[in-house]
Amino acid sequence: VNPKQIAAEHAVTLIKDGMSVGLGSGTTAAYAIPAVARRIETEGLRLRCVATSKASAHLAHANGIKLSSWDSIETLDITIDGADEIDPEFRIIKGGGGALVREKLVATVTADEVIVVHSAKLTEALGAFPVPVAVVPFGWPSTRRRLAEKFGCEVSIRRDASGDAFTSDDGMHILDMAFGAPLPRLDTIENEIRSVVGVVEVGLFFGLCHHLVVAHSDGSVEVKAAPK
Ligand code: 5RP
Repeated sequence: VNPKQIAAEHAVTLIKDGMSVGLGSGTTAAYAIPAVARRIETEGLRLRCVATSKASAHLAHANGIKLSSWDSIETLDITIDGADEIDPEFRIIKGGGGALVREKLVATVTADEVIVVHSAKLTEALGAFPVPVAVVPFGWPSTRRRLAEKFGCEVSIRRDASGDAFTSDDGMHILDMAFGAPLPRLDTIENEIRSVVGVVEVGLFFGLCHHLVVAHSDGSVEVKAAPK
């Protein structure tokens, strides 16, 4: 079995009856969804679930999970999601799958955000993975240019398989900012990027992760609580 699957299934054991649950996006979070469905089926758990992407919603439906409308949810007890890079302070780069806007909306109101990653995604200093930035499609080349000029790094438009600009579930394009490690000015960089006109959301999730579930290549799983 894939180590990511073992870790995702371990994360699902943290869910308790009666909880409201956020279902994350990406290949790791995808392993959690059938495991949630199995617990509902075998243990009769009563859960209210919301998905962070159309792909996760589709997978949830395919596994027989009935989803609640995001508009009807004010807070969530637990969310299980993946990440692209995470540092020792549990600062995260996310959005490799382009779902960062919904993922951040969900993480922001989640009491226990559980992030599941392969150990290869742990890093001492963020920035090797480009920071995904969701932007309004209108005038994206101008937004790209202004971001590149302001931060002095390469900024590229994410493309889909047919070569068109990738469009997220919320109709945004994604610009990937290749800062390189270490990411500068960790205290302010998120707001610096967000203040650029055209930017909707930044794939930096700082202070949002409560538990980390690490998948090791040998199949072992480590659960860590966020540093105080
Ligand atoms: C999607 C995400 C994913 O959680 C992140 O890209 C990790 O994906 P994977 O588990 O497939 O490596 O942020 O927007």
